[in-house]
Amino acid sequence: MMISEKMKPLVSNNSAIRVMFEEGKRLAGIYGAENVFDFSIGNPNVPAPEAVNRAIREILEEEPSTFVHGYMSNAGYEDVREAVAQSINRKFHTSLEGRNIIMTAGAADGLNAILKCLLNPGDEVIVFAPYFLEYGNYTANYDGKLVVIPPNPPDFQPDLQCLKEKITDRTKAVIINTPHNPTGVIYSEETIRSLAKVLEDKQKEIGHPIVLISDEPYRELAYDGADVPYITGYYDNTVVCYSFSKSLSLAGERIGYLVIPDAVEDSGELLQAAVIANRVLGYVNAPSLMQRVILRCVDEEADVAYYERNRNLLYTGLIACGFSCIRPQGAFYLFLKSPEPDEKKFCEAAKKYNILMVPGSSFACPGYVRISYCVSYEKIERALPAFKKLAAEYGLLQAE
Ligand SMILES: Cc1ncc(COP(=O)(O)O)c(C=O)c1O
Repeated sequence: MMISEKMKPLVSNNSAIRVMFEEGKRLAGIYGAENVFDFSIGNPNVPAPEAVNRAIREILEEEPSTFVHGYMSNAGYEDVREAVAQSINRKFHTSLEGRNIIMTAGAADGLNAILKCLLNPGDEVIVFAPYFLEYGNYTANYDGKLVVIPPNPPDFQPDLQCLKEKITDRTKAVIINTPHNPTGVIYSEETIRSLAKVLEDKQKEIGHPIVLISDEPYRELAYDGADVPYITGYYDNTVVCYSFSKSLSLAGERIGYLVIPDAVEDSGELLQAAVIANRVLGYVNAPSLMQRVILRCVDEEADVAYYERNRNLLYTGLIACGFSCIRPQGAFYLFLKSPEPDEKKFCEAAKKYNILMVPGSSFACPGYVRISYCVSYEKIERALPAFKKLAAEYGLLQAE
């Protein structure tokens, strides 16, 4: 075979979420899209704000085409970086400047760029299960070693005692994600403070910085007015990976940014390295037109009410069926406890009712399934009777 040894396991373990996504399309072809309850992928259902579409039209009319479509500094347009920094400052009382921001092709690029900057072969990156499985692939890209902290049900706040035990002198980074995919949990301020304290103490002990990478594609998607602490205010060596994929429903456009504040140790060197990483990884720079859009739309807001309404309907409906799960506080995922230990069998059983969910083992957390509710409200309404039948099959509810 032609492909590399490193690539082979990736091909044979191709993402279960993507496989499910393809299955959804297949079923829709047979039963009609309205009769398939595809809760597999986190592709936002809310359209991008009209302001985004308007900005695209205005940019094409107002800004010279050679400028809009041309190369710029690998870190992004200076005016865009400045606008992003000022927007963050207004919201979170930070004191960032444009030079602290690097525009990226979404959070995936930001994560890869920062890991490339930090990791020598064998260096460790700690994550809390359940976690976005790509973290493992991204870490492996730079020959790092992923260290997984086991899940901490039922509230899924990170297990900080275990974190203390897992930090070694090879630990370079810890990745957190709040609001969280796949549980919908938001890490409380108390959790963040305690996490920061563990990392401060351990940095002293091991004698080198531990970078806290805050992966934030769901930052604004918080319900019931919940507060999502801005991590840079709690721990100096924090780098933020932000994305507009979910907040502005621009997942296919590939736009986001990295924040490397001055408080990060050797921040100047890290900023320079991250810009070069962005280039040599082949991203070169974040998509130009989308950067110009962000300049005009940086303070546009996600339609949180839309997802919150979905969350309410789905959570209440599933609990009424006899299922159990933690009530999602943010993002657009619900993490259901499987009524049988092998959640893959549960997902198979659900398919009989045209319900598609992702097994928790795709997030290193077997025994649970993820339901993405970034779908229409009507789809959830239509899916609930199917969930009822599934619950009845498991004896959670009497069949009607
Ligand atoms: C936790 C988490 N991190 C990162 C990403 C990647 O997002 P992006 O589209 O910005 O690369 C996703 C996408 O689903 C995600 O759920």
